[in-house]
Formats: sequence, C-alpha cells, structure tokens
Amino acid sequence: MVNKIVVITGANSGIGKAAAIRFANEGFTVVMACRNVERSKMVQQEIMEATKNPHIDLLQLDISSFQSIHQFSAALKDRYPKLDILIHNAAYLNHGESNYLLSQDGVELSFATNTLGPFLLTRQLVSMLEKSDDARILHACTTNIRHFFDPKRKIEFDNFQGEFKNERPFKAYKFYGDTKMALLMLTFKMAEELKQKGISVNAVQIPAIKLSKETINKFKSGWRVAARVQNVFSAPRETMADTYFHICTSEEFKNVTGKLLNDKRKIMEPSHYSAGITQDIKQLMDQTVYPKYAHNKENIQKVWDMCESLTK
Ligand SMILES: NC(=O)c1ccc[n+]([C@@H]2O[C@H](COP(=O)([O-])OP(=O)(O)OC[C@H]3O[C@@H](n4cnc5c(N)ncnc54)[C@H](OP(=O)(O)O)[C@@H]3O)[C@@H](O)[C@H]2O)c1
Repeated sequence: MVNKIVVITGANSGIGKAAAIRFANEGFTVVMACRNVERSKMVQQEIMEATKNPHIDLLQLDISSFQSIHQFSAALKDRYPKLDILIHNAAYLNHGESNYLLSQDGVELSFATNTLGPFLLTRQLVSMLEKSDDARILHACTTNIRHFFDPKRKIEFDNFQGEFKNERPFKAYKFYGDTKMALLMLTFKMAEELKQKGISVNAVQIPAIKLSKETINKFKSGWRVAARVQNVFSAPRETMADTYFHICTSEEFKNVTGKLLNDKRKIMEPSHYSAGITQDIKQLMDQTVYPKYAHNKENIQKVWDMCESLTK
C-alpha cells in the first residue's frame, strides 16, 4: 500500500480528516488538499503522530477557485508521478445562510465548491490517475438529494451566476441540494468518459454524520440548534471514513463505476416507484433508490455543458 497515493479535499476536518487518518493507518501517502494551510498544518502533524505515517502531505487548495485548482494540480504533478485515489469530500455547508455569494470566478459559491471545482480538478488530474493500475474517484453526495423525489423540485440552472440573486430568495440548504444533485449527475457522465482510461467514478450518499463544532458554528442560529440535536443521533465520522476507504480500495468495488452507493455500501438504482401516497412513503423509506431526476439524460447533459463552458 505504501506506493498508493490518495488526495482528499477538505481533509482538515470532519469526515475528510477521519478518512485521512484511515488511509494513513493503512500506509497510504495522503495528500491533504485544504484551503487554510496554517490551520491544516496542525491537523497534518496530529495525523502523522497518531498514525506513525510520515507520508502525510499538505497542499493548498480552494476548490471554489479555478486558479487555485490549477496551482494545486501543478504542485501535485511536480511532487508525484501518479495518483490512485481522488476523494472529492470538501463542500460548502453553510445551512441557513441567506446571502447569495459569488466565488472569485463569478459563480454561486456552493455550485463553485461542490460541483464545478470537483469537475475541473478531476479534469486536471486525469493524466495522473491514468498512470494508476486501479484509479478511483469518489464524490461525497448527501441524502439531501432525496428532496428530488418531489417531481416539482428542479436544479435552479438559471441562477448559478447571480442572474436572479436580487430577485429570488436565496436558501443555502436548497442550493446545497442542487449542487450535490449536479455532482451526482456528473458522476454518471464522468464514469462513462473515463471508463476507457481505467478510472472509476462513484458517489456515496452520506446520511447524518457528526458535524464538527466549527461547521455547526457556520450555520445560522435555528439551523445551529437543529444541527446540535441531530449530532446526538448522528453516526461517528469514522464510519463514513471506513466507507470511503472500502469504496476506494476494496476488490468488491474494483470494477464498479458510475454508481451511487448508500452508507451501507449497497449500489443504489433510480427509483422504480410510481405515483401515490403509499408509493411515495415506500420510496422515501427505501435507501436503495434515488430520484429519477438524476438519471434524466437531458438534465445530465445540461450540468455537463454548464461545467464545461464555465471552466473553459
Ligand atoms: N456530516 C454530515 O452530516 C454530512 C451529510 C451529508 C453529506 N455530507 C458531506 O460530507 C462531506 C464532508 O462533510 P463534513 O461533515 O466532514 O463537514 P466539514 O467538517 O465542514 O468538512 C468540510 C470540509 O470542506 C472544506 N472546504 C469547504 N470549502 C472549501 C473550499 N472552498 N476549498 C477547500 N476546502 C473547502 C472545509 O474546510 P475549512 O475547514 O477550511 O472550512 C472542511 O475541511 C461534504 O461533502 C458534505 O457535503 C456530510
């Protein structure tokens, strides 16, 4: 395992940090891709001491910025000859935020962080992933996408560049769901595109996992209280770190690509339920299905084209 290299975005806290520890314990070279290097240095040190693995690297990456993605990719290529695993874990998680914020490239901040950034970073790193004999990419998705079981729910495609930022109310939680749905859609198309290159691309549907204090503090007051209550019943971060590790390293998933997996590591399928209240309830309870919206070819193409044109 010592020669295997994994990049984890947002590895300085929460699930990303737990995953960095998990991979480090197994002897991987772990590249922590974090936006705040000063704060992350302490975490890097902590991981090296706890795991006795000296191969814990830290590189600056603001995944919401195209320039930062280009700089990160260049630095990674300078240091390593190949890449085995790329985990897109970082996300904009400011629930309750009601200000529409633009990234430095003029894109709504959660879309820039959760969808566009992963798209561009993967594109930049394909040449390194191709050199691995078992390259795997993982997208951190969320149960929030289950809101798309509602047939009226749609991605707000026409408002990702501030088009209606003054006219429409902004709800960070709704945009979060839109951007994670878009990330799931990218998973399907990217998997097709990268299959011939021997690179697999999957997504994992993450349920409530204990949030860090720092993340909860970013939430607006009502959401903060709800998050603290939810934290009591949430699973520890290590369980999701184990799931990341399993999906990215096990024989079971070696030839699996273009799939959404649930937290029990089961492959999920587009919903087969029909309309009606009983069917709706069964659908909501069924953790092996996801909204059909995600498999709509037109929607997928729309997300893809948007990512291509904005990152050109
Ligand atoms: N915890 C849950 O209940 C839950 C549920 C569903 C899905 N998820 C998903 O799981 C993943 C990890 O979440 P978490 O619970 O571990 O939250 P977290 O502790 O807040 O971790 C998020 C990480 O993303 C980083 N990040 C945010 N914006 C970034 C940017 N522009 N560039 C680089 N890094 C950035 C953060 O860095 P800073 O420290 O600098 O802010 C932090 O390291 C996310 O994709 C989230 O959507 C979590």
